[in-house]
Amino acid sequence: MRRLLVLGAGGHGKVVADAASAGRKWTVIEFLDDRYPEHGALEDWKVIARPADVAGLAGADDDVIVAIGDNARRLAVIEELLSRGVGVTVVTHPAAVISPRASLAPGCVVFAGAVINAGTRIGRGCIVNTGAIVDHDCRLDDAVHVAPGAALGGNVHVGRRSWIGIGASVRHGLSIGSDTMIGAGAAVVADIGDNAVAMGVPARVSTRRDSDGTVE
Ligand SMILES: CC(C)(COP(=O)(O)OP(=O)(O)OC[C@H]1O[C@@H](n2cnc3c(N)ncnc32)[C@H](O)[C@@H]1OP(=O)(O)O)[C@@H](O)C(=O)NCCC(=O)NCCS
Repeated sequence: MRRLLVLGAGGHGKVVADAASAGRKWTVIEFLDDRYPEHGALEDWKVIARPADVAGLAGADDDVIVAIGDNARRLAVIEELLSRGVGVTVVTHPAAVISPRASLAPGCVVFAGAVINAGTRIGRGCIVNTGAIVDHDCRLDDAVHVAPGAALGGNVHVGRRSWIGIGASVRHGLSIGSDTMIGAGAAVVADIGDNAVAMGVPARVSTRRDSDGTVE
């Protein structure tokens, strides 16, 4: 019996558990959530403890995945787990098409209908959401989220913790900085820097945040 422990029993966690249960690897899936014990179940899955308890709970037959939607928080939790020697797994829906010549670092999740093509390298804790396309030779740094239906052409680089919004497209060969948000439906046709919010067709930077979070 192999068990998957999912940290975070919200909407994103529900889709992570659903993707995991569609495959054959895990016979038991259980959640850990800060709202335990008030939050005791999600769909037909049990919430059994708080995330802080994971190190004591995870045995040799258990795998752990972090299902926190916020990119920065998800990465911080993954880094803390890894530093404490708790392994973090990868969850891929069986209906995702992932090239054997692509690589996924620990903590990644890939949902149904997503396609990841040859030569692409995906960092720790990334989300490749439902129906998203990441074409050949892309590089996604840690904790990037490619939202449902978004598409990256070949050789695109996305920096840490950036979010490509639902249905957005990024032309091949471009670079998107870290901590940047690309709006839903945007068409990115030029490089976008760090700490930016960009939206529209073609995408224009509307806001730039400093590293301390203040907005220009
Ligand atoms: C781009 C985005 C981050 C901006 O959020 P925001 O700063 O809260 O923006 P607001 O909703 O206050 O809108 C501000 C203006 O930008 C416009 N705008 C917002 N999002 C836009 C988008 N994606 N494309 C074009 N224009 C957009 C609004 O119409 C509004 O215009 P106005 O001032 O002329 O009325 C957000 O709208 C977005 O697209 N998020 C992506 C969400 C997503 O992909 N979710 C996936 C979940 S898995």
